[in-house]
Amino acid sequence: MKTGQELYRRAKTMIPGGTQLLSKRPEMFAPDQWPAYYSKAKGCKVWDLDGQEYIDVSYMGIGANVLGYADDAVDEAVKSAIDSGSMCTLNAPEEVYLTEKLLEIHPWAGGVRYAKAGGESMALAVRIARAFTKRDKVLFCGYHGWHDWYLSANLSEGDSLADQHLAGLEPLGVPKGLAGTNLPFHYNNVAEFAKLVEKNKDNIAAVVMEPVRNDYPVKGFLEKIREVTKRLGIVMIFDEITAGFRLCAGGSHMALSGGVLPDIAVFAKGLTNGYPLSAIIGRKDIMAAAQSTFISSTFYTERVGFAAALKNIEEYQNRRVWEKQIALGHRVKEGWKRMAEEYQLPIEIGGIDPLAHFSFIVDDFLGYKTFITQEMLKRGYLASNSFYASYAHSEEIVDRYIETLGDIFAKIQIIMEKDGNIREYLDGPVCQTGFQRLN
Ligand SMILES: Cc1ncc(COP(=O)(O)O)c(C=O)c1O
Repeated sequence: MKTGQELYRRAKTMIPGGTQLLSKRPEMFAPDQWPAYYSKAKGCKVWDLDGQEYIDVSYMGIGANVLGYADDAVDEAVKSAIDSGSMCTLNAPEEVYLTEKLLEIHPWAGGVRYAKAGGESMALAVRIARAFTKRDKVLFCGYHGWHDWYLSANLSEGDSLADQHLAGLEPLGVPKGLAGTNLPFHYNNVAEFAKLVEKNKDNIAAVVMEPVRNDYPVKGFLEKIREVTKRLGIVMIFDEITAGFRLCAGGSHMALSGGVLPDIAVFAKGLTNGYPLSAIIGRKDIMAAAQSTFISSTFYTERVGFAAALKNIEEYQNRRVWEKQIALGHRVKEGWKRMAEEYQLPIEIGGIDPLAHFSFIVDDFLGYKTFITQEMLKRGYLASNSFYASYAHSEEIVDRYIETLGDIFAKIQIIMEKDGNIREYLDGPVCQTGFQRLN
């Protein structure tokens, strides 16, 4: 057993869930095979604890590293922030410079607050919306973190978060009194949204959604939500935590046709190239409500996050990173399609180009997914069924990846033609999906 897998075994005896992020559990990739820990990461290369080198064609820091790992420019700014004192009784001026920058990029907004993680900044945005409107309910689609306001959707009957994000998110520990306060609708389903509004319209504080992610908005979808929210005084919140800094330098909403602008937008992963900071930007009058509801935290003020974000945005703009993310993501999607056609695999491809993913239309996709990860690991790739493009990838790298994946698709074709029993070919357990206990 490799050093990383051994360490992960130890981790699971002490750290409930093994790690702090579901998406970093080896069980989500290839249990007992995924290297689990890294000793070093640079560009799109990763080294495990045994010094084995991999090219990351999976999630690139679970979406956080838009420039690539350990980017020199951002890391220099971070080191300089550390050398100047990352914490102090006084405030870091970079907080103000970053605010000016975010407001320059998003001229519709007039105020910014900061936090550290994505999910918590969504909780902050919802709190501000509730404080501003003095109403309780939220309508949402998609995933927005682990906090009470969000998980409360599953206090009502059924597993309503299963088809929004993940199955099995039991709202244990969430006060039952929150039942009925967070109501789901599905992306691109205007009728469902309109019905929910009709039923709850006197008490809706916010509509929370990603402007784009797996699908592009159908014509009129965002426009309709904007029209209704404006008419009823509901705060429209765009979660740009993952979609932001992928299609343009800033919120993906600025790159979509239709020109729909939210009242609040929330950023995290794409903002700093891997350092903890999230930003809640919003209309001046709405953000002013953050003065009347108490939101305050020591580490929201530390310097590294602001310094990293300022430099990351500058580099993202100067290098026109979104153009590369879109082009490389598109190239990978085309590659998946070509290989699937060549080996006659029933593939389904989705996601905006910089956040692309595929699946096979088969009974046991998890088995195939595990097999792909297992075989790609042997060939020096961290690979799953998603590709998050970064500036550190190149055409040569993705072409070689597609070629290597083609060899595995060829094996899969043979297995499918035989009896489709992919599990016979796995060197470890099948990967998991959804949320579950590990031990
Ligand atoms: C759209 C969206 N919202 C919220 C989150 C939660 O962010 P974090 O993991 O930083 O708490 C994520 C993370 O994947 C996300 O993709």
